[in-house]
Amino acid sequence: MAKTNGGVVPSSDRSNLIPFSSRLKEGRALALDVWTIFSAVNLPADCINLGQGYMNFAPPKWVTDAAEAALNTVAPNHYSHPRGRIRLREAIKGFYGPQFNRDLDVESEILVTSGANEGQYSVFTAFLEQGDEVIMFEPFFDQYLPSVTFNGGKPVYVPLHPPKDSLTKPTSDDWTIDIDELRRAITPRAKMIIVNTPHNPVGKVFTKAELKAIAAIAEEFNLLVMADEVYDCLVFDGKEHVRIANLPGMWDRTVTVGSAGKAFAATGWRIGWLIGPKSIIQPTLAASTRIVFCSNSPLQEAAASGLELAREKKFFETQLSEYAERRDILTKAFDDLGLKYTHPEGSYFILLDISQVDFPENYPFPDSVLGRGRDFRACWFIANEIGVSSIPVSEFYCEEHANIGEAYARFAFCKDVDTLRRAAERFQALQIYLK
Ligand SMILES: Cc1ncc(COP(=O)(O)O)c(C=O)c1O
Repeated sequence: MAKTNGGVVPSSDRSNLIPFSSRLKEGRALALDVWTIFSAVNLPADCINLGQGYMNFAPPKWVTDAAEAALNTVAPNHYSHPRGRIRLREAIKGFYGPQFNRDLDVESEILVTSGANEGQYSVFTAFLEQGDEVIMFEPFFDQYLPSVTFNGGKPVYVPLHPPKDSLTKPTSDDWTIDIDELRRAITPRAKMIIVNTPHNPVGKVFTKAELKAIAAIAEEFNLLVMADEVYDCLVFDGKEHVRIANLPGMWDRTVTVGSAGKAFAATGWRIGWLIGPKSIIQPTLAASTRIVFCSNSPLQEAAASGLELAREKKFFETQLSEYAERRDILTKAFDDLGLKYTHPEGSYFILLDISQVDFPENYPFPDSVLGRGRDFRACWFIANEIGVSSIPVSEFYCEEHANIGEAYARFAFCKDVDTLRRAAERFQALQIYLK
């Protein structure tokens, strides 16, 4: 007889011999995740995918040319320095230094990582002791939870409060934080706070006043601040992107996270970066070196060329206006239907209020959707009947607060305008299903 997670099984059954770690369960890593449930293979073949946040267009040609050139050169086909290739670190210094008003030290204040994800994971590995608490605002980017728990941390959730029902045209700014509530959530085990601005999935761009209040709490309770700013190049409507690291006294306790995937429409490249003081970057480098050793070398060169040339090519200005056009195609479709949504001031997501969508409860939903919140059924129904996929927002909440997210579906507008126009046309068919 062999012992497995499920107990004792006949020794002839060799399918589950070795018990896996309980951390997979704690990190929700075993639950059928929302990306799998709503992946293209599970949806009608012609469904327009506005679910997962990746682009259906290529990175700029001058960036992919640089990737090709790197592949055809010997050195970038091999290991890079664990800190990242010097060309990329210099490019990060050149592009971001002025934004932080600092002469960034490429040896100790910049770390290139395998996507923002790995950078964040490495910070948790470097700083969390067993049982340390990490505060995050809900809804939260779902990867935070396993990254924290795999490293022995405990997530502590503080809600972003949804817009009041009385608002007919809410914006992402109407999702608010309650600083007293944040303060009450802090225990002596609190070690870190994650501040994601612009925010996924709300699109919120935190104001200076909000960030100042969070900064004061971080100072009072000696918290490490993880500023997840991977959407920093997508701030609309003339709104200001404030970097919490730039607030008085905050540099020393803040690590800022960036992503070439978001900046250059290259989510599969897995190149990201961390910027912060030596006291945060050095321990994180020690962790990252032992997790991945180094990041994808040729694509570091390409990301470097992107940052080097972005200003001259006015790349981010052009990209921003293209994204604003994409956003407006979807919001107009929702306006035409009289649907309520959160007008996003940043990132590339729109939260649609789906409480008005009236789907038959006896619709042939798969089991994967039936056990979950109303938003899972609504998203499934919209994908199958209207032909546009989205992501149910309860997935971005802890189980206890999932009901807040059930009112929303997240639509990603990082798609070309033709695709978004076709999606907008399809939405007209939703009219007959509205309460
Ligand atoms: C808020 C947020 N942080 C981090 C990431 C991860 O970025 P990367 O693809 O560079 O790992 C994402 C990706 O969706 C995100 O939305």
